[in-house]
Amino acid sequence: MAESWVHALLLLVCVPLTLTSGTGTGTGTRHRNISISLNPGHPDPPGGDLLYVRAVGPNDSLHILFCSQGAPTLLLIHSNSTEATVKVDWDDFLSRNSSGSVTVVPEGSVVYSDSLVLSRVWEYNDGNDTADPADPGSDLFPPYELQDVTWSQFNLSTLSALLCGVYRDSNGTICVQLSVFESWGRSELWPRLLHNPDSAQLAFWLDGLTPRSAHSRFLLELTAVGGAPLETVRTVRSIDDEFTPSIFTVSQWLSNSSVLAPAPGPSPGFVQWKPVAYRKPAATLEVATPVRYRPPRQQDPVSAANASKLIFGFYGNDTPTSGINISFGLSGEPFYGSTNYLSWTLLVGVGDPPLDSFSALVWSILAVGLGTPLLLLLVGGVWVCVRKLSAAAPTAYEPIN
Ligand SMILES: *[C@@H]1O[C@H](CO)[C@@H](O)[C@H](O)[C@H]1NC(C)=O
Ligand SMILES: *[C@@H]1O[C@H](CO)[C@@H](O)[C@H](O)[C@H]1NC(C)=O
Ligand SMILES: *[C@@H]1O[C@H](CO)[C@@H](O)[C@H](O)[C@H]1NC(C)=O
Ligand SMILES: *[C@@H]1O[C@H](CO)[C@@H](O)[C@H](O)[C@H]1NC(C)=O
Ligand SMILES: *[C@@H]1O[C@H](CO)[C@@H](O)[C@H](O)[C@H]1NC(C)=O
Ligand SMILES: *[C@@H]1O[C@H](CO)[C@@H](O)[C@H](O)[C@H]1NC(C)=O
Ligand SMILES: *[C@@H]1O[C@H](CO)[C@@H](O)[C@H](O)[C@H]1NC(C)=O
Ligand SMILES: *[C@@H]1O[C@H](CO)[C@@H](O)[C@H](O)[C@H]1NC(C)=O
Ligand SMILES: *[C@@H]1O[C@H](CO)[C@@H](O)[C@H](O)[C@H]1NC(C)=O
Ligand SMILES: *[C@@H]1O[C@H](CO)[C@@H](O)[C@H](O)[C@H]1NC(C)=O
Repeated sequence: MAESWVHALLLLVCVPLTLTSGTGTGTGTRHRNISISLNPGHPDPPGGDLLYVRAVGPNDSLHILFCSQGAPTLLLIHSNSTEATVKVDWDDFLSRNSSGSVTVVPEGSVVYSDSLVLSRVWEYNDGNDTADPADPGSDLFPPYELQDVTWSQFNLSTLSALLCGVYRDSNGTICVQLSVFESWGRSELWPRLLHNPDSAQLAFWLDGLTPRSAHSRFLLELTAVGGAPLETVRTVRSIDDEFTPSIFTVSQWLSNSSVLAPAPGPSPGFVQWKPVAYRKPAATLEVATPVRYRPPRQQDPVSAANASKLIFGFYGNDTPTSGINISFGLSGEPFYGSTNYLSWTLLVGVGDPPLDSFSALVWSILAVGLGTPLLLLLVGGVWVCVRKLSAAAPTAYEPIN
């Protein structure tokens, strides 16, 4: 009897929470209509592909460009017009003759833009197992310059594009997969990042690269160009690890919004990730490995523009640029050679980064933990009252002899 009461209460508490949770918190657009074109205006450009995703919301539009002409580059342009489109002057774009070969019409509708270049993969021999490339016991190998990778054509599916390539004569592949989103949701694959329609997700993996030492570990160098320079990394804590087991934080590389507007406000752009990578294609807790970052640094805009035709075409070679190193593994963790595989996922977007709210599971645990004692008190109190009343009743109607 008491048990079914508990169930009824849990149902009352949990059903509305299940419906509202999992969407996260945020103020951005709820839905965007997406259209995708490959190499708009050119049948088959030499040297790599340019994917154009146009995502139109009720009052604005987001333009996502993903390019393999050089190092893989993601460019996000936020326009306050629903009519805006990106135009590419292919002759200038391919010859790198002048910047401004990638533009938005109508001009002046651009509210914000930012971009991310996957520029280098560093490998080092972690001789003393310190997971620190600067340790005296570590030897740094020449980096894999991602602009020198021979990239395949994009393999397109509904809302994603897969790009894989081979570095010179090395074994194995380096892959980057872009996913774009019409609405809020969460990826099926671990680390199951929450996304919104103002963001795009990149998954990066190294598959079958022959390590150059027995104790090889890797770093990924990311370069951000444009908009407000991304300057600070913040780590947001959460007690909820339902979607990414054992991970209780989210790292966010944010632009310094004071550069654009003096008043503190929402950040205009972000890169967000969970500090975990996986050492096998099938991500499980057993193959999870921690991810750390080194503080962001100012970078040379000329070399970023040189590494990516999309960066040069849209920003030229004098736009503020910053870089960050993401390092995979900690001291004591298995080396890359244990599986010859490493994958990591990140989200890039405009506006506020999406953040998890408490999930239904956590709320249910809270409800059971706090609700049960209260319910027992309540049920106990009612039971005592009923007993008292029913005990009192017969005396009141005691037959009069
Ligand atoms: C998206 O497309 C649907 C159907 O074509 C249309 O009704 C809706 O207004 C569009 N939304 C936006 C934001 O353009
Ligand atoms: C779109 O614009 C209309 C009127 O201009 C406004 O009422 C509405 O709040 C805006 N919607 C969003 C999502 O900004
Ligand atoms: C570069 O652009 C200038 C001016 O637009 C033009 O005169 C020149 O021929 C171009 N060079 C190449 C290699 O396309
Ligand atoms: C769009 O943004 C531009 C530049 O910030 C501004 O001049 C223009 O007034 C904006 N238009 C609308 C409709 O908000
Ligand atoms: C690293 O190991 C070498 C010997 O392999 C040792 O000489 C050196 O002191 C160690 N360095 C550190 C920082 O532990
Ligand atoms: C494209 O991707 C699909 C699914 O990931 C795969 O089955 C297919 O072989 C790929 N095609 C090419 C040409 O790589
Ligand atoms: C590629 O793999 C083969 C076989 O495992 C190995 O002998 C060769 O050294 C590797 N090549 C490179 C460049 O790592
Ligand atoms: C943000 O930019 C302002 C002005 O350029 C600077 O004073 C401030 O230190 C920056 N904040 C951070 C956290 O980098
Ligand atoms: C530009 O890239 C080419 C090869 O992609 C390289 O040889 C050259 O040194 C680079 N220049 C600069 C200034 O980085
Ligand atoms: C990343 O690490 C490598 C090797 O330690 C270093 O040469 C490079 O400058 C670092 N990049 C950034 C942006 O910190």
